[in-house]
Amino acid sequence: MAKNKNNQPIWNIRIKKKASTLFQKVGNSIDIDKRLYKEDIAGSIAHVEMLLKQKIISFKIKNKIIYGLQKIEREITKNKFEFNNEYEDIHINIEKKLFQIIGEDAGYIHTARSRNDQVITDFKIWIKSATKEINTNLDKVIKSTLKIAEKNIETIMPGFTHLKNAQPISLAHYFMAYVEMFKRDKKRFINNIESLNESPLGVAALTGTSFNIDRNYTAKKMGFSRPTNNSIDTVSDRDFVLDFLFSISVCSMHISRIAEELIIWNSDGFNLIHLSDKVVTGSSIMPQKKNPDLLEYLRGKTGTTFGNLFSMLTILKGLPLSYFKDMQDDKEIVFKSNDTLIDCLKIFNEILNNISPNKKKMYELADNGFITATDLADYLVKNHSMSFRKAYQKTAEIVNFAEKKKKKLRELKIEELQKIEPKLTNDVLKVFDLKNSVNSKKSYGGTSFENIKKMISKYKKKS
Ligand code: ARG
Repeated sequence: MAKNKNNQPIWNIRIKKKASTLFQKVGNSIDIDKRLYKEDIAGSIAHVEMLLKQKIISFKIKNKIIYGLQKIEREITKNKFEFNNEYEDIHINIEKKLFQIIGEDAGYIHTARSRNDQVITDFKIWIKSATKEINTNLDKVIKSTLKIAEKNIETIMPGFTHLKNAQPISLAHYFMAYVEMFKRDKKRFINNIESLNESPLGVAALTGTSFNIDRNYTAKKMGFSRPTNNSIDTVSDRDFVLDFLFSISVCSMHISRIAEELIIWNSDGFNLIHLSDKVVTGSSIMPQKKNPDLLEYLRGKTGTTFGNLFSMLTILKGLPLSYFKDMQDDKEIVFKSNDTLIDCLKIFNEILNNISPNKKKMYELADNGFITATDLADYLVKNHSMSFRKAYQKTAEIVNFAEKKKKKLRELKIEELQKIEPKLTNDVLKVFDLKNSVNSKKSYGGTSFENIKKMISKYKKKS
């Protein structure tokens, strides 16, 4: 009994003095990694089943251990488990409890494994299911984005470069740009799963083990496609953590970009969209205010996810092989980034369902800034066999003229246009029409209504 008295650290025979309260506090990760209990128990069950198959433990011990583990899982799920802060992490908490439930036979559970392989096994399983949850939320966002796009195929607005009017676009085309980004995000998350899908279990502390274990068996049991190849790399590797944090960063960056754009569009200067009262907040002093706080929250949270990615990169930089305590922080960082992203996706989805475009204002803004000048240049190339550069210069002259006369391009008379380019006929006037301009962009991926409709129905079928 002396070896595993429940109130003693596992290493109490070797290390005789108790750690200071402060050392315990900083070294302890149970408040964070208790979130891994299900994965830890699943990994332990796979492990002891393998130990039995390989005749390393007996049938009776395997059953006792699994009985104890399942009891622990039920207790934790029902919030009846008392986590002990004197035990560093989830692994030790569970092991200690197992001793309480089944007695000394619990001591067989740690045969041929170490917490070093145990923790990353748990963590990889956790990241796999977190990825699924993120992608389910991304699906919802994609669906809501498609819904807005579908309603706004014929809503014309200015497309901007440098935030200056560039060429007219369909609002749907703009939203569909974000569908592309969110689809890439999904793919990025899925690709990560492929590269992390190797089971660490059985590499033990860093060398592998002298027990005749079957790592293929445990890998399969836990849903990994194969075991990892090098025991030292396995316990040192946190690339899968970086991949996950990077994917979260990119996804939150996409959300931040659209949030910023919607903040601008919602500003009184632009007034291109209306946000319903469900997603705005008031001011404590200015009674008239309706502020887009939630969009600002989304933009701001990108700072957290980028920061977490950089924390992890910095922790790993210059770290020799193999396991070091430095790595313990990986869980807190990942959980924070994951939770932040999940919140952001949910909030963003709600915002998408609470936006309405101010179509009139969008059209009016698009009707400014000589936005169809490129259409005129294209027309000159197609109809008067000019090189594009020549047509570009002619058009610039026409824009200068319109600016001087304080007229829009569409307000110029054909006679005025002919003074600059005598070959022009009445036919040219149609190029100044915004709808005509949008619809002329029929090249694959362009903003014509027809293209957008096809894309929307293609994506609706897929999702
Ligand atoms: N709580 C530890 C962590 O998350 C588990 C691994 C401990 N390994 C060790 N050699 N101290 O990193």
